[in-house]
Amino acid sequence: MNQVVDFINVHRDRYVEELKQYLAIPSISALPQHAPDVRRAADWTADALRGAGLQNVRLIDTPGNPVVYGDWLNAPGKPTILFYGHYDVQPVDPLNLWTTPPFEPTVRDGEIFARGSADDKGQVFMHIKAVEAFLKQQNGSLPLNIKFFIEGEEEVGSVHLDDFVRSHKQELAADVVVISDSPMFDRGIPSICYGLRGLAYFQIDLRGTRSDLHSGSFGGAVANPAFVLSQVIAQMKDRAGRVKIPGFYDDVRPLSEDERAEWKRLPFNETRYRKELGAPKLFGESGYSTLERVWARPTFEVNGLLSGFTGDGAKTVLPAVAMAKVSMRLVPDQLPDKIADLFEAYLKKVTPKTVELKLTRMHGGKPWMTAFDNKYVRAAGRAIEQGFGKAPVFNREGGSIPVVSTFQEELGVPSVLFGVGLPDENAHAPDEKLDLGNFHNGIIASAYLYQEIAGLA
Ligand code: BES
Ligand code: ZN
Repeated sequence: MNQVVDFINVHRDRYVEELKQYLAIPSISALPQHAPDVRRAADWTADALRGAGLQNVRLIDTPGNPVVYGDWLNAPGKPTILFYGHYDVQPVDPLNLWTTPPFEPTVRDGEIFARGSADDKGQVFMHIKAVEAFLKQQNGSLPLNIKFFIEGEEEVGSVHLDDFVRSHKQELAADVVVISDSPMFDRGIPSICYGLRGLAYFQIDLRGTRSDLHSGSFGGAVANPAFVLSQVIAQMKDRAGRVKIPGFYDDVRPLSEDERAEWKRLPFNETRYRKELGAPKLFGESGYSTLERVWARPTFEVNGLLSGFTGDGAKTVLPAVAMAKVSMRLVPDQLPDKIADLFEAYLKKVTPKTVELKLTRMHGGKPWMTAFDNKYVRAAGRAIEQGFGKAPVFNREGGSIPVVSTFQEELGVPSVLFGVGLPDENAHAPDEKLDLGNFHNGIIASAYLYQEIAGLA
């Protein structure tokens, strides 16, 4: 291991330069005009896998963006890791809030700023470099077998991935899935994540009239869709922060007392959290702590609203239409399709007949949670301790990675989530960044992870 770690230390700066090239590709999966860039990022990922010494590297078509695959399977009798990550990124708006442009990666104070730095190109690259260090330093061999499976549609809900996993079970067969696509608990507090929330995402369109109208001539005679939309949204949650959709909580697995007690012991500073978020006061479902609200309770959120006149000055107008993007984060054992049915029924009930309602179901993903007392998690704990000088804590996360539950259901394989981002990484927001110390330690920890998992056979 010493040679591998030396190699990683020697090449520290080169890794950052290479990562910059990766981050410069605007592979925004949500925007059709970036399709060529998404493709370029897939090719770049494949080249990086080849450069690291992986074999059978290829793009595999899906009905959407290609999956990048590569493997090294020359350790018979040893375990096989399936490493999953994504090369697509989120949109960058509002662009004016970025200190430096999102696709011009810039290092400031030991952190690299760019869209995708933390989520997820930087963390994918970390594993590619860990494999490279082994293959370059250990006579072209790894202590175990590994398959890389890097997709390009995670940020748009991995809609084609369930079918892909189902139809490629043989190629994806493994003993354990390894994923680095989440933040660690806090700066200097590495963690292993054992639960993710699911998601159900929708667009609501309301139409009041054929076109916009003079608010003097017609105001008072017809319903205003912006107003109706506000009223409808206001009926989704009560004042205590509870979602009012009937049946919404039916399948929510209650938090165990053990888990609650464990989380109380985590070094979570609520005042600092609030201040860092710039929130005047925290708000969430009553009866639960902040960590419980984010990790173990479902939510209803408005992601965007659009209606009427929003330019400078004043315009006396009745908007013809109003639109909202809304989504619910789900927890075990809520199912996105069932929640979508419940939501649709309730929405239809609370929307008055004065407007035309159109509901579009967008993407979703199942929640995921695993028992974490297995040998792979323990191996990851030891590896993280080698890389970061500290044993990890165990946490859940509020975000979603749709395919993780599919891996469990379809491949019957446990996942180990070892992320090196930070809570203030600004994922999906302006000034997304990755701490380069964590990136570097993450490469070392990944190398140890392969070594530790190899030792389990
Ligand atoms: N890296 C995140 C998932 C994540 C975020 C895990 C925070 C843990 C904490 C991932 O890239 C992501 O953003 N996923 C989307 C999925 C959605 C589009 C279905 C998300 O959570 O919004
Ligand atoms: Zn993301």
